[in-house]
Formats: sequence, C-alpha cells, structure tokens
Amino acid sequence: MTPVTAPFPMTRPRRLRQAPWVREMVAETKLTPADLIWPIFVREGEGLREPIASMPGVERLSIDNVVEAARAAADLGIPCVALFPYTDPAKKTPGAEEAWNPDNLVNTATRAVKAAVPDLGVMLDVALDPYNSDGHDGLVRDGVVVNDESLLALEKQALAQAEAGADILGPSDMMDGRVGIIRQALENHDFQNVMILSYAAKYASAYYGPFRDAVGASGALKGDKKTYQMDPRNTDEALREVAIDLAEGADMVMVKPGLPYLDICSRVKRDFGVPTFAYQVSGEYAMIAAAGQQGWIDQDQVMVESLSAFKRAGCDGVLTYFAPTIASMLA
Ligand code: PBG
Repeated sequence: MTPVTAPFPMTRPRRLRQAPWVREMVAETKLTPADLIWPIFVREGEGLREPIASMPGVERLSIDNVVEAARAAADLGIPCVALFPYTDPAKKTPGAEEAWNPDNLVNTATRAVKAAVPDLGVMLDVALDPYNSDGHDGLVRDGVVVNDESLLALEKQALAQAEAGADILGPSDMMDGRVGIIRQALENHDFQNVMILSYAAKYASAYYGPFRDAVGASGALKGDKKTYQMDPRNTDEALREVAIDLAEGADMVMVKPGLPYLDICSRVKRDFGVPTFAYQVSGEYAMIAAAGQQGWIDQDQVMVESLSAFKRAGCDGVLTYFAPTIASMLA
C-alpha cells in the first residue's frame, strides 16, 4: 500500500495527534481484556501465596487461591487462564508419570476452576518438563530426548487433561508429530470439542529462565532444549512448523517468546490467517517488572506499550503475566 499524501504543509501528520480524543479515534489497534490469557502457577497446600523471586509481582497459588484468581479473571473480562504446576520434586521421575495422574496439581485445579467459574476457559500445557526428573519436555533415553516414545507419554497426559475438563490444550514440547497424536486421541475418546493452541513456533530461548524457577525445573534441567526447540536465527522454519501443526489439527497457533519474535508473529498471521497468539514469557515480564521496581522505566506504560505491540503485529491475543494488571487498567 502506497500512502497518498499532499506535500507539507497541506499534509501535517501532527493534526491527527493533537488531542487524546482524536488519537483514540484513529488508533489502528485496540487492546482489550478479551485479548488476554493469564498464566497462573499452581502449588500444593491451602491458603498459600508464594512469591517467585525472579518474577516480581507473580506468586505460586494453592488451588483455593487459583479459584479466587479465576473468579477475578472472569470479573475482569479475561477469557482464559493457563495453569502451570510447581511439582513436588519427590514426584518427578525419569518416566514423568505424574504428568498423566488424573489427580495431579493442574488436573485438580482445572476441575476446581471449571466447577467454580464454568464460563472461564482453562488451558493446560502438554509437555513433560514439570514432571520429568531431568527437566526436559520429552523423555530422555541415554542422554537423548527421544521423540516417538515421548509422543505416547504426551498422549496420556493430554487425555488426562481433557478428562479433567481442560478446554484448550497447549502442546509446548516441540516433539515432532505431537499435535497429530493428541488430536487423534481426542477424537477417539469423544473430546472433539477440546481445542489445541499449539506452541508452533517455540524457540530455544534464554527468556524462559524465570519460568523454570517458577515451576521448579531450573535445577533439574540437564543441558539445553536446542534439539527440539527452534533456533532463534530462523524464520522460514517457523512457517513450516506452523503449517505442520495446522495440518495435524491445531485450531490456533502460538509464537514464543513474544516481543523478540514479533516478525514471526506478523508473518504467521499474514501467511496463514489463523488465530495467532504470542507468549510474553517470564523473562520479558521479569525485565519490565524489575526495571519498573528500580524506577528505571514506568512499568505500567511499558506494559501497555509492549502488549499493544502484539496487536500491531497482528496477534489475536497474548499470554501474559500482566493479564490481571492490564485488564484492571483497561476496565
Ligand atoms: C514448558 C514451558 C516453558 C514455558 C511454557 N511452557 C519453558 C520451557 O520450554 O523451558 C515458558 C514460559 C515462560 O517463560 O513464561 N514446556
């Protein structure tokens, strides 16, 4: 598109910036609470809120408090929460069996949230890292993260989550073939309405550091995730990953991390035209929150600016730890 403009001074772009009302009127994108998915960390116990040092302002909540948070989310107009477990290290095994325990933390929390706030969406991650004693998203055999055997574990995990009432499954493991296996399993077990929001373009990123603290996987992780998560230098590969996940039955796709990968968000949305989400990950959150705490930036303004960038890039929504803060501000 070539903009048609008269030469200065007939054209003065500042005319449209002169007052808040006109800036509001011509704004090209708008962020609303309906654009948000709120990731929440769940822990065992009751009445507990435990701060996470590397994510100032974010806490691990016991299930009763997760239900309270879910109510608050619904009241704020946030359509969906994503639940992540802080798993007791004693329950982590090389086989990650806790992942498909029907009564594990996220499955129990999902049942509690759906009972209390049925109209709020619940999303769960399909990946083994919170349950695996070596911190990897797939099973490790002789030091290798094995693909096809991991799929069988992910399938069991996904079915247990659907059984618990999860509305959206988010395969975040980056094993090849996971979306197809999960979609087929859901069809075979009468869960045809369960949605898949695949972490389609998920990069091997250092921005996940604080999350791994939050779910207690940092100490456990041996090595890195570069044999399955994507190389940050690649773009075309992201489009192939998205195409594969859509062909295997994903309903929506995600790009992760968010802000450093806005070019990917933009290309995915333009090329595929499917619901596209970005994950403003823990490290992105931590940088804004920490600099804000120091008084080096205005946290609220940077939060709004960063989240607006996702809308500008074409995203339909954002997973963000700022969800309740920004939603209250927009209300
Ligand atoms: C697990 C998973 C990760 C995140 C979401 N799901 C971490 C990882 O892949 O190591 C990161 C989220 C964040 O950093 O906020 N598969």
